[in-house]
Amino acid sequence: MTTTVFVLNGPNLNLLGTREPEIYGTTTLADIADMAGQAAAGLGLSVDFRQSNREGELVDWIHEAAAAGAPVILNAGAYTHTSVALLDAIKSVKVPVIEVHLSNPHTREAFRHKSYVGMAAKGTIAGFGAHSYVLALHAVAGLGGGLLAGK
Ligand code: DQA
Repeated sequence: MTTTVFVLNGPNLNLLGTREPEIYGTTTLADIADMAGQAAAGLGLSVDFRQSNREGELVDWIHEAAAAGAPVILNAGAYTHTSVALLDAIKSVKVPVIEVHLSNPHTREAFRHKSYVGMAAKGTIAGFGAHSYVLALHAVAGLGGGLLAGK
């Protein structure tokens, strides 16, 4: 049975391609979804790729992933740095959650250095542009058969 990975994207990531291209590049979120789908197929995984500008919807999707036993790759955008609700959601589920970012928040403004997501995530991949998502899928694949057994 193919493991489906939830790839969840937070606020403003729908604008990738035109949003601050000097930081995020010109790759669109649709391009990243295609890249993730292809990388997943090569790893024997499939992806359920989503984006929302609403914090509560991201919380709901983490719960949904947990109910489905699906690992999560999460780019929570700015909610990374503000959301205790996302921290609590990640702590509440047994499926692994991998934090991803296109940019490297640690080289940017001080307010981006704190990550509530990272306080509970299995691990973090940041700074590789769209390729961060591909690396995160490799990380999920590397968790192997035990990946659904818990964090
Ligand atoms: C981001 C980094 C965040 O600090 C920022 O708020 C984003 C994008 C990234 O992928 O580099 O929206 O998560």
